[in-house]
Amino acid sequence: MNVFYAKHPDVLSRYAADRFIEQLNKNPKSILGLATGSTPKKMYAYLGEDTRAGKVSFSQARSYNLDEYVGLPGDHPASYRYFMQEHLFSQVDFREGTTFLPNGVAQDLEREALRYDNKIREEGEMDILILGIGSNGHIGFNEPNIFFEAMTHVAELDESTRKDNSRFFDKLEDVPTHAISMGMRVIMQSKIILLMAFGENKAQAIYDTIKGKIDPRVPASILQLHPNATILIDEGAASLLEEADYVRL
Ligand code: F6R
Repeated sequence: MNVFYAKHPDVLSRYAADRFIEQLNKNPKSILGLATGSTPKKMYAYLGEDTRAGKVSFSQARSYNLDEYVGLPGDHPASYRYFMQEHLFSQVDFREGTTFLPNGVAQDLEREALRYDNKIREEGEMDILILGIGSNGHIGFNEPNIFFEAMTHVAELDESTRKDNSRFFDKLEDVPTHAISMGMRVIMQSKIILLMAFGENKAQAIYDTIKGKIDPRVPASILQLHPNATILIDEGAASLLEEADYVRL
């Protein structure tokens, strides 16, 4: 696992955007894995700017998001489809019908999870995947005590996750209790994984991910076994680590 540090998150967002651009320029038909949340917003803004500047194109790529809330249709402002539309899909040049998220309002959610899993596996594997991390160590919505071999599934959100994400809703009760999340197994098959973590509320999860044992209580710790995973941390997220634990960007 590579661990890269920069004092300011923008430097890390720029680095992650550059890795995506490099991948797309090498293989325009790349399969991209995408995350929502506060962490990748700036990276997506950079990708928007660079698309407008003609430095990269998404026109032959396809993307798969990590997760979607159960019960929120794509036109709900707190849905992840809506988030992606606003922060990335409307800013770059994906062709119609090439960006995928699980359907959180499917009649049969278990079946939808399986369909999504199969769809990604039919692609082969993702070429590059951007991840955030929960303050409890989750990736996607693979919450603590996940089975490392998990397929895409309907996940019950931890109370800590619902609290963390309540900032995107009017009140805590409005935060969905479940989501469909890409499974750990598919995540681990991505050829390149970039995980970004910003702020002190991620410091313990980052410490456990990098320095702890591989443990289902810290889902991100499995990344220690990935052959090409890079952790990108700012000053806050690195606050429990020592200088020797990372390389400065
Ligand atoms: C989002 C996702 C989550 C977030 C994590 C961090 O699609 O799968 O794992 O990456 O909860 O969220 P932020 O970036 O809002 O701190």
